[in-house]
Amino acid sequence: MQPLSRRGALILGSLGATAAATGAAGLLWSRGSEFQAARGQELEEPQNLHSAGGRLQLTLSAASGKVRIAGKDATALSYNGSLPGPTLFLRAGDRLTVTLENRLRDPTNLHVHGLHVSPQGNSDNALLAVGPGTSFDYEYQLPADHPPGVYWYHPHHHGLVADQIFGGLYGAIVVQDDRAIPSSRERVLVISDISLTSGGRIAAVSVMEKMMGREGALVLVNGQLNPRLAARPGERERWRIINACTGRYLKLRLDGQSLQVLGLDSGRFRVPADVEEVLLAPGNRVDLLVTAQAGTAVLRALPVNRGSLGSMMGGNGPPRSPFGPSGAVLATFAVAGAPVAALAPVPEQQVPRDLRAAPVAARRELVFAMGMGMGPGAGMMDFTINGQSFDPARVDTTVSAGSVEEWTLRNTSLMDHPVHLHVWPMQIIEQAGLPVDTPRWQDVVNVPARSSVRVRIAFDDFTGKTVYHCHILDHEDAGMMGLMEAR
Ligand code: C2O
Ligand code: CU
Ligand code: CU
Repeated sequence: MQPLSRRGALILGSLGATAAATGAAGLLWSRGSEFQAARGQELEEPQNLHSAGGRLQLTLSAASGKVRIAGKDATALSYNGSLPGPTLFLRAGDRLTVTLENRLRDPTNLHVHGLHVSPQGNSDNALLAVGPGTSFDYEYQLPADHPPGVYWYHPHHHGLVADQIFGGLYGAIVVQDDRAIPSSRERVLVISDISLTSGGRIAAVSVMEKMMGREGALVLVNGQLNPRLAARPGERERWRIINACTGRYLKLRLDGQSLQVLGLDSGRFRVPADVEEVLLAPGNRVDLLVTAQAGTAVLRALPVNRGSLGSMMGGNGPPRSPFGPSGAVLATFAVAGAPVAALAPVPEQQVPRDLRAAPVAARRELVFAMGMGMGPGAGMMDFTINGQSFDPARVDTTVSAGSVEEWTLRNTSLMDHPVHLHVWPMQIIEQAGLPVDTPRWQDVVNVPARSSVRVRIAFDDFTGKTVYHCHILDHEDAGMMGLMEAR
């Protein structure tokens, strides 16, 4: 921790008042839950748009206005008037073109999270700004060997990312498998959180909540509260789940059902892995098979202790969840009726690439730290990587295109940070000093408080500038982001 500056001391003074107002246990995630929501409706899915003949073209219009949330009218942000925005179904080799219309009062832009596409020009360029009242044409060319998986799109204008995603701007992208995976039904479940006032407007977020990484009082699935999903015993459902929450970790359980993971983020495991629960940090996705067992099961997000701000910040423990130990109810899976015949087995998938034996061109360490009162954000702690907060004019890391690097992601703070790199996925090779013995690829890797994770990255196919950052988006907005260039 840095020595206290005068402003740091002033910040502590005002935070003391916040802590006193929320009681001795510190922060409580419950603000903005006055909204009268409807629960238990049939699950709905956003509009599905499929590529045809190798192309998908669409317009995404980002606006603030009336939108359906939890079965009621609210005023929030959305793409094309729906929350989430449309789901884009693509295939490897496709070209995606998106006209982004900005009808917001602030600048925005578009990021295709996890896609392995160029970061340059009008492709996945996180450094572009699309001003209010203007539009911009994005074009993304997926390589012919693009991995299948669950991806998503969201704004990436530094400083406004958390507000714009929390406000409702996100949607799913699916890159389909070459060889179909037999299932009875496919669903896309975009999980997000938001806090609304009784009047259905986005509730204000305190400085303290931003430092923790805000968690909304409503946890939504496709914009609904506890929707109902129906199936028959023996059916194999395929759920593509996205954690689009700005700061909340989702420890998902569906007790009484049998779950298998086909893949996390991008790509596939060679064979589906049997699991009891799945932990998705903000930004992570899972491609999940659910084999339906008769009965009614509840999809829950169990509480996750992702650390605290420390006693100096007036909080003496992690924020208390308003949902209690059994967690937030996300959806109800009702399985009844005549059993169906067993489905064909899941075909074996391609063996994932393994960089553990690859020659390493460079080794680096990225230190994720939280300090006190030295940075530009008024009333905030510092959120830094290698001692610096984000500056779009400074390249922090230069890698040589085509090489493999090994990065140690070190977290010196008391909170977890989910570390995300654009364009190139990361193979986790070591966690807390222990080797990981199977190839595990993710584009968001959780680095626990006071711990480290070692990854390898193959900087293939593209050159240009892009970013890595904490995917607790309040931390990213506060500066926990770095700029890298592949050349
Ligand atoms: Cu999902 Cu740079 O973000
Ligand atoms: Cu991303
Ligand atoms: Cu963080």
